[in-house]
Amino acid sequence: MKIAVAGTGYVGLVTGVCLASKGHNVTCVDVDEQKVAMMKKGESPIYEPGLPELMRDNMDRLVFSTDYVSSYKDADVIFIGVGTPEKTDGSANLSYVYQVAKQIAVSAEKDCVVVVKSTVPIGTNDKIESYIHDKQKHSVKIYVASNPEFLSQGTAVRDTLHASRIVIGVNEEEPGKVLKEVYQDFDAPKLVVGRRSAEMIKYASNDFLALKISYVNEIANLCETVGADVEEVTMGMGYDARIGDRFLNAGIGYGGSCFPKDTKALSWLASFNDNEIRTIKAAIEVNDSQKFKLIKKAKKYYDEFLFLNVAVLGCTFKPGTDDLREAPSLVNIPLLLEDGANVRIWDPVGEENFKKKISNKNIQYFSTIEETLEGADLCLIFTEWEQVVNFDVRKYEELMKTPIVLDGRNCYPLSAFEGTKTTYSSIGRRTINDR
Ligand code: UGA
Repeated sequence: MKIAVAGTGYVGLVTGVCLASKGHNVTCVDVDEQKVAMMKKGESPIYEPGLPELMRDNMDRLVFSTDYVSSYKDADVIFIGVGTPEKTDGSANLSYVYQVAKQIAVSAEKDCVVVVKSTVPIGTNDKIESYIHDKQKHSVKIYVASNPEFLSQGTAVRDTLHASRIVIGVNEEEPGKVLKEVYQDFDAPKLVVGRRSAEMIKYASNDFLALKISYVNEIANLCETVGADVEEVTMGMGYDARIGDRFLNAGIGYGGSCFPKDTKALSWLASFNDNEIRTIKAAIEVNDSQKFKLIKKAKKYYDEFLFLNVAVLGCTFKPGTDDLREAPSLVNIPLLLEDGANVRIWDPVGEENFKKKISNKNIQYFSTIEETLEGADLCLIFTEWEQVVNFDVRKYEELMKTPIVLDGRNCYPLSAFEGTKTTYSSIGRRTINDR
């Protein structure tokens, strides 16, 4: 099948490359000429494990272009995978989606299915369909289908090739048939549902996961107060298949481009329709305050941060990505700097992006964890990179001036710090060697 994909971010590029790996001829379209030039050379513009290899293996079926007219004019299927960032009021900004819809309307010269992969508010597919039909130049049949994306950054290729489910949202039979053909070689359950339900499945899934995280974070906070251990608690909960044992890791809150944006967008949509979703509102509030958990803990050990050397391990919103969107580090590090601390940062891939967001003479970057910890008065762990998880914890007291480690991602078993001199405080567990 001849497929075009609009947008070469996480959703668009991963979708395009995975479809090519299943034998489709795919043209990936992007407005950014520099990105397109990179991809033509077989280089991935995003950091995503496994993607460059899969891209290189399938270059004979992949075309990269800025020319949307020739890419869309004879495509059987056109995926829209552009971003839907958050507007200041929390609602989703659909301008990129409509830009592509307009380009499709003027370019399509053949019957085709437009597949909306971008996360869009419920009812948007209907609007896009009318918009395209109003603006279309050639007398061809253009269907619109919703096909939400469930990939996670860092495991995007695996999540796409071995999806938990493929949701096909259509209001007619034909586009459903076409999409089943597109995905016939994907080993995943395929669900054909109404278009609005498909749009809702995406928000309801992401928001449920966000809710689960905020819930477990509140339970963790209470565990600290009442002397329970959140890891033991979630282990006990996870055995119940109705609850499940995944996404029960307590920490300093969710970040990334999806949960923060999608919780706010659904909350906005619900309130706009006089149908407030109180649980999601609560999840957002809990997450906003959870992000400051380590700073609050630090205040117990230091009244002020002036001239303090603070080591920061990890600044991305999760491991396996260089993405910093909504990362807890971005709200915490400015507070440390405002209070006069010297911040020493280690992150294996996030440094460049961090520098673009925050620049300050009191920040230093290091390429090893050891150097970062040298002479530090405090260590904050924001991301559970495997280098942190596998770090020999005895080195904290060897290298730091005052070994106080505040772990926002519960990287270590408590037993690892028994018998050391390091004060180790994590989320929802007792503090070891408290001072
Ligand atoms: C999320 C969803 O997991 C995907 O299914 C969805 O397709 C994607 O959003 C999207 O809408 O595009 P992603 O944002 O890449 O994927 O990352 P996650 O692995 O879900 O993690 C999000 C945040 O939650 C991270 O900050 C992570 O540290 C945090 N988290 C996750 C926890 O605090 N605890 C957990 O148990 C799990």
